Amino acid sequence: MTTITIHSFKGGTGKSLIAVALAHSFSKDGEKVLLIDGDYGAPCLESFFPKKGDPKPFPEFLKAKAKLKEVVSETIFPNLYVSYAPPPSFGEEIIRADVATHGRYLKRLLEGIEVARDKMGFDKIVIDNSSGITLPAINHLSCSDKSVIALRPVRYGVESTYSLIDTIYKKLRYLDSGSVRKDFLLWNQVPINKDSIIDPRVGDYLAHWTQKFGEAGISYGATIPYISDVVTAMIADISQDLPAIVQQIQTYIDDLKERIV
Ligand SMILES: Nc1ncnc2c1ncn2[C@@H]1O[C@H](COP(=O)(O)OP(=O)(O)O)[C@@H](O)[C@H]1O
Ligand SMILES: [Mg+2]
Repeated sequence: MTTITIHSFKGGTGKSLIAVALAHSFSKDGEKVLLIDGDYGAPCLESFFPKKGDPKPFPEFLKAKAKLKEVVSETIFPNLYVSYAPPPSFGEEIIRADVATHGRYLKRLLEGIEVARDKMGFDKIVIDNSSGITLPAINHLSCSDKSVIALRPVRYGVESTYSLIDTIYKKLRYLDSGSVRKDFLLWNQVPINKDSIIDPRVGDYLAHWTQKFGEAGISYGATIPYISDVVTAMIADISQDLPAIVQQIQTYIDDLKERIV
């Protein structure tokens, strides 16, 4: 089983869209997938996967108030299961918890991953992380085998993400002595012209930074252009149109899958 966390330094880089698309794509391949909403400040899975009944949110498991299976819900898609975040007002309480509490949550996370693999038969866990360097975000990275770092080609976002490599991404690699996390760079919302060509100045910029990230140990994952139909589809009833939304970026998600798995 592989645990993959989708992270970024800045918000709005497409983490949630990519997490949903990746999880959906693995499930279509016949893998049993658990998609966890790990963004307690800005949860979103409910709008992709409407809740049936009143499922317990994932932090109930972290707090040892529920078993893993009690925080896992089926979706209308075969093989695809989700675990919801609490409403943001409750999520704040998790984010603000102290380091010792988050240390306990990390232990529960690692136990949960074992249960998901050994008892529930999951093949993949995909975590939609919060942006930035909050303690929950760090825990999610720490327990993962792989991470995907979503980046928009915006200078301050790129440079500040690069500056995090030494302080965050490298440090969290060796927590579990048995596994070494691999991090991948995903360019998202890259501007293209009407012929779907990336402007050469943008292309040069991406190539320059892809190389720099590569030298710093972050491998290249994929490049997703800015697709205005994604935005349009997201405004419509997304729970109905999820396959239609995901379809727009499927080839790029396939690219990413090939490199990370
Ligand atoms: N490649 C893309 N092309 C067009 N819109 C995108 C693309 N990726 C993400 N978006 C849009 O950008 C917004 C932010 O994406 P989201 O997945 O919510 O980011 P995050 O979870 O990182 O905050 C959403 O409206 C989403 O539909
Ligand atoms: Mg999000």
